[in-house]
Amino acid sequence: MSNAVENTLFEHPVLNVIHLLNTIAQENPAAISLASGRPDDQYCDPALIDKGLARYRQHVAGTELSLATLLCQYGKTSGIINEIIADYLYVDEAIKVSSPEHIVVCMGFQEACTLTLLSLFEGGGILLVPDPVFSGVTGIAKLLGIKMLPVPMATFLDPAALRKLAEELESRGKKIRALYAIPDFSNPTADSLSYPARKAMLRLANDLDFFILEDTAYRYFRYEGDEIVSMRSMDSRRVFLLGSFAKSIFPGLRMGYVVAPEGAGITPFSARLCKAKSLITVNTPALCQAVVGGLLIENNYSLKGLNQPRVLSYTQKRNHMLECLEHAFPSEGDSQRTVTWNHPAGGFFINVHLPFVFGQTEMNECARHFRVIVFPTSLFSLTNEAVNQVRLSFSNVTAAQTTQAIGRFKAYVESRMGKSPSDSEGETFSGSRGQHDAGCHLVGP
Ligand SMILES: Cc1ncc(COP(=O)(O)O)c(C=O)c1O
Repeated sequence: MSNAVENTLFEHPVLNVIHLLNTIAQENPAAISLASGRPDDQYCDPALIDKGLARYRQHVAGTELSLATLLCQYGKTSGIINEIIADYLYVDEAIKVSSPEHIVVCMGFQEACTLTLLSLFEGGGILLVPDPVFSGVTGIAKLLGIKMLPVPMATFLDPAALRKLAEELESRGKKIRALYAIPDFSNPTADSLSYPARKAMLRLANDLDFFILEDTAYRYFRYEGDEIVSMRSMDSRRVFLLGSFAKSIFPGLRMGYVVAPEGAGITPFSARLCKAKSLITVNTPALCQAVVGGLLIENNYSLKGLNQPRVLSYTQKRNHMLECLEHAFPSEGDSQRTVTWNHPAGGFFINVHLPFVFGQTEMNECARHFRVIVFPTSLFSLTNEAVNQVRLSFSNVTAAQTTQAIGRFKAYVESRMGKSPSDSEGETFSGSRGQHDAGCHLVGP
């Protein structure tokens, strides 16, 4: 009898993206990685663990609760810091959660998303996703056998075009069950939904009776412009808020949460989420919850103060990478630039358009021969969108590494375009002179 396992679903490229992001740097130790969207190592501070735990211990001491039971026993499936998270959502987001039981504390966004999809798609239906988009969502939807409809990002951002697509779909008998959105600084393209687009999307969800999964992972990392209210604060009946503390505290905690929709006539999704969770992870580790709960109390139920130094530092990192790109690929008189990029108002990524296709083979070649790792945006696509785009992450590199990495990337691009690499060694130009700025001293591969 054959032991062969059929490899169909597990061979799908979208299931490999997170693994690839986690391994490509190890396989190319000499390369500078602009691939993964890790938060800055500088802010992954173990002292936060002691601080959060101590504050949580103090918090519990003022109650009837037993710290030993809370931290050391099997815990409540929905979580032990739900009220603290509810207070934080009110302070930072003006979101009123009518009962802490509408919140389920999860092991990161990834579990929050898994439980939400499980609770929603029992009866089938379609999940609309922007394309390209974070593969954490498309990967788990694939694993769960959920039908997805990838919507080109330009359509997704345009309320009239999105409505047309959704109405056409429904008129053909295809029921939309939910739509996934990263309204603030999406991964990989750093696009955001404007306030009118958020409103229009909620109107569409109400008209066609579907739910919105709002992912707020990068919401705290705005570098310019005014904050736009979260979709959950605009509509508590249609939106599952999927939160993560990975970027705003640190990812090793694996802490996130779902806020389920509420309101009369709405299926009690929190109960469904908890049933699914009780069979998957039983409860989120109490120690990790205690650290987050304590840190939230310590910071007056707000993450804004805690994240202010990070926002300043990431602003400088973004600015520096933009300046390095400008220097590496200047506009040539009146002619159009051959390499272009966006100017993200927040998030961790800059998306670059190249005059040639850049896929996984090119990524490996660039890493091996030019010692810089940049990630093909198309690997986040279900439809082979964005084949000539690359995602550059600026969050976890120093200014000196960014300068060097962009210099190496320029050499790669020139080699692909049949130009001999320009002699950039020793060349300097004035960039911003922030604390991270090592000057854009271009160094070849
Ligand atoms: C769009 C998006 N959502 C959520 C997350 C965070 O997920 P988790 O909390 O599982 O680490 C990430 C991390 O890369 C992300 O890019």
